[in-house]
Amino acid sequence: MGCSVKSAPDTQKSPRAAAKSRLRICLFVFILNPSEFDRRLLSIAGLLRVPPERSVLWFYPYAFVERQSLKITSPFHSVVSFSCVSTGDLNRYSAHPEELKLLSPRAIKKRRTEFLLGRLAAFRAIKALGIHPEPVLRGKHREPLWQDGIVGSISHKGDIAIAAVVRKTIADGIGVDLERMDEPVNLRISTRVCHPSEMDWIFKSQNNRDIRFRMVFSAKEAGFKAFFPIQQIYLNYLDAELRWNEGRQSFGGSLLKSAGNHYPVGCSFEVGCRIIGNFVLSSITLPPRSPSNPSG
Ligand SMILES: CC(C)(COP(=O)(O)OP(=O)(O)OC[C@H]1O[C@@H](n2cnc3c(N)ncnc32)[C@H](O)[C@@H]1OP(=O)(O)O)[C@@H](O)C(=O)NCCC(=O)NCCS
Repeated sequence: MGCSVKSAPDTQKSPRAAAKSRLRICLFVFILNPSEFDRRLLSIAGLLRVPPERSVLWFYPYAFVERQSLKITSPFHSVVSFSCVSTGDLNRYSAHPEELKLLSPRAIKKRRTEFLLGRLAAFRAIKALGIHPEPVLRGKHREPLWQDGIVGSISHKGDIAIAAVVRKTIADGIGVDLERMDEPVNLRISTRVCHPSEMDWIFKSQNNRDIRFRMVFSAKEAGFKAFFPIQQIYLNYLDAELRWNEGRQSFGGSLLKSAGNHYPVGCSFEVGCRIIGNFVLSSITLPPRSPSNPSG
């Protein structure tokens, strides 16, 4: 059987013209919508070898609809107040002056937006608990400082943020984490994040290795956010080991380093983990154990 090689069509642009065209589209998309969309658009278009001049027409409506319709619903029991906000919600919001002071004057637009989104999500979540929201300040280790009687957690990715808060009588700690699925994964760092048993689970899957790695990573970040504020003990990624429980759609975890008096080595916990649209969402609540929470 013969093998023929098709010559490139006459209409194909020179690499220089194509690069110019891509640059024009970049500028156009930046002006139209200065979010992360431009990067996603061009990487998807590049992968599919869509001619640059068609990229905007093909993908803009898709991404616009996706962003408008994505709403992350609470992964928690109803006693936890959960809020999800996106950049459109910032129009009618001004953060508390004490919170604004936490932002460096040199903060880039992305950081400003993420910070404000996180504080807005926290504000709404506290209000929904029926409590008057006070500013969420910051501790020495970047941890959010919550007003008396509640604990909470914040996560933001680009133009979306989530926050969860709960009364201290119900939980000692709470953690949420969002990870995007369309960001490149460097599986080479997996040995710094995962134990061999976790690597086995990740590599057992032929097609979903990246997703599984993100799930382990995200679940550990959520765990960190829940444990750290209790006694300011820093847990590294390898200080906890996770096992996936398919039936519960969650990881069962075990601490390999103490996270405080009431959270010794061997202490077990559970982190919920699910895929929502383009995100991995992880969530954890630590039932009360400390003396201030006598129900533990
Ligand atoms: C702190 C950390 C978890 C933040 O996660 P991230 O994916 O970079 O970013 P997210 O958007 O999900 O979360 C950022 C928010 O986390 C919160 N946060 C930051 N440091 C925190 C800490 N020490 N404790 C609790 N929450 C913290 C903040 O509210 C922050 O938002 P803000 O700065 O606007 O207030 C991460 O940067 C980190 O240091 N991880 C290493 C430790 C770890 O995860 N170990 C695993 C042990 S099991």
